[in-house]
Amino acid sequence: MTARRTCLITGASRGIGAAIARHLALAGWDLLLVSRTEPTLAQFAQDLPMGPGARAHYLAADMGDPDDVDRVAAWALTRVPQLDALIISAGMGAIGPLESFPLRRLEKMLTINVRAPYALVQSLLPALRVAGTESPHGAKVIALASLTGLVGQPLNSAYGATKAALISLCETLNTEESTRGVLATAVCPGYVATDMTTGITDTVPADTMLDVEDVALMVVSLLALSSRVVIPTLVMTRPSPNLWQA
Ligand SMILES: NC(=O)c1ccc[n+]([C@@H]2O[C@H](COP(=O)([O-])OP(=O)(O)OC[C@H]3O[C@@H](n4cnc5c(N)ncnc54)[C@H](OP(=O)(O)O)[C@@H]3O)[C@@H](O)[C@H]2O)c1
Repeated sequence: MTARRTCLITGASRGIGAAIARHLALAGWDLLLVSRTEPTLAQFAQDLPMGPGARAHYLAADMGDPDDVDRVAAWALTRVPQLDALIISAGMGAIGPLESFPLRRLEKMLTINVRAPYALVQSLLPALRVAGTESPHGAKVIALASLTGLVGQPLNSAYGATKAALISLCETLNTEESTRGVLATAVCPGYVATDMTTGITDTVPADTMLDVEDVALMVVSLLALSSRVVIPTLVMTRPSPNLWQA
């Protein structure tokens, strides 16, 4: 019998994080779910389709608040000595021309998209290292980055810079920890049809965006791999003559 695996997901109540949570709940994972809005998160956890042995715990916390990030890490460490997966899906998106993009927005995005993932990985490393040595899958850190972190796109100077930092964080984590079985992947999708992209459906119709289920399936596949393969960056792009356009 395989041991039940535990996964912490930030940004778990909607969009990509929610789709991943649904797959893992059905597969019997122990889930630690995080997002800001407690009633939505509680309802989401209650409605999850639970496979045999699955459990879902939740904590409302804002990844833009460093104290909340510490609270999430402490909560996870008291619950589980071994963390098999950390999925970082909570993120802030905002676009605008570089010439006038407000620096306060950039700073907020850096806090949510870079500082919080960095702090979570750092604090949870002891529990990830346990899975790294105990599980044939190792421990997986999967961060939802973006195609814009790999290739510059107009109006994405701030968002793209934060996602580039996240890609770098995953890559460096691999250089320091992969021999201990802690493996990181920055998943880099183009536009995905979620709440985050409802504002641009006039220019990019939702049915031409990536399907959230495909992103979730890709993440689930990464979790199924053994600890003998490192996938630092994973690009997911849409059918188009220009594969590097979000
Ligand atoms: N959609 C895309 O086109 C796309 C493309 C590439 C990469 N990504 C990245 O994929 C990730 C998920 O995006 P998505 O499209 O699934 O977004 P979404 O549908 O807007 O869902 C965001 C989730 O994160 C939570 N959240 C937002 N801000 C948070 C914060 N400060 N602290 C804690 N939780 C927070 C939200 O719940 P609450 O609001 O209740 O907190 C919700 O559960 C993001 O990092 C995004 O940058 C998205």
